[in-house]
Amino acid sequence: MKKTALFITTAFTASMIAGVAAYAGWNEGGGEQDEATKIYMTFEKKTEAEKKKIHEDGIAVYEVCSACHLTEGWGTKDGTFPQLAGQPATVIIKQLADIRGKHRDNPTMYPFALPKEIKNAAPEVGGGPYAIAAVAEYISKLPMNPDNGVGAGDNLEHGAKLYKENCVKCHGDRGQGSKEKYYPRIQGQHYKYLLRQFEWIRDGKRRNANPEMVKQIKGFTNKDMKDVVDYVSRLKPPKADLAPSKDWLNPDFD
Ligand code: HEC
Ligand code: HEC
Repeated sequence: MKKTALFITTAFTASMIAGVAAYAGWNEGGGEQDEATKIYMTFEKKTEAEKKKIHEDGIAVYEVCSACHLTEGWGTKDGTFPQLAGQPATVIIKQLADIRGKHRDNPTMYPFALPKEIKNAAPEVGGGPYAIAAVAEYISKLPMNPDNGVGAGDNLEHGAKLYKENCVKCHGDRGQGSKEKYYPRIQGQHYKYLLRQFEWIRDGKRRNANPEMVKQIKGFTNKDMKDVVDYVSRLKPPKADLAPSKDWLNPDFD
């Protein structure tokens, strides 16, 4: 009797732990993500002079990032570096906190994203949650690349169907994402970056991935993946969010 009870308890606990590891882990926040989000939420109510200071602090921190993501925040068509411009600030905060907290592997960026590195580059801003909030605010307002990398374009109808059935409920009908829910904007992103992330999420390599998305795309073949991601790469952001031309240069870094 005792033994059975123990067995049941153990089995129950084990399944609970498995459940927790697979589900509650995503975006449970805490630490830096929460602190930076709280600070970010206060920005809206600041005076114009304070907003100007936050903007300048964002530029000072972004100087570090621009070495890879480029001064325009547009990344590279070959997908090595993602476009960051126009990404919701909450998404930038979460991804940066995840990368610094080693919940998402990014060995290229990791050493540069550490507090001491950012503090070195921008001593007056520091390298903590405020720096994350300020740089996220700055990046989210950068105009996006009107000429991002796209796929081969040979199966867009299939891609559109897959998108409608599997992605709209989270990433939105145009891939715009959700600031409130930390869902990334995927419209206008470079095809090759999208493809790599999608594959890593499907195959369990991106450890901070949303478990609901992992479930949703579990059965995707490599062809399905290419088709849907090709379709996404061709979803254009609203004109107001795009730079006037692909030759636009960020005047903050003249
Ligand atoms: C040495 C190059 C390098 C530097 C410097 C760098 N990054 Fe990155 N960053 C990358 C790479 C590479 C990736 C994509 C990694 C991958 O494919 O998973 C990335 C990804 C990201 C992402 C995730 C984007 C997404 O769509 O999920 C964010 C956010 C980000 N970087 C922000 C920053 C910020 C902010 C800074 C400056 C504080 C910075 N990065 C500095 C190389 C860099
Ligand atoms: C249940 C909600 C959900 C569904 C359904 C979903 N996603 Fe996601 N997706 C997310 C979240 C949340 C993230 C960010 C995960 C994280 O925190 O790192 C993400 C990340 C991504 C990324 C990486 C973006 C980046 O900037 O690094 C791509 C690409 C992507 N999703 C494409 C898709 C496509 C295409 C579909 C449909 C086939 C889809 N997703 C379905 C929620 C979802």
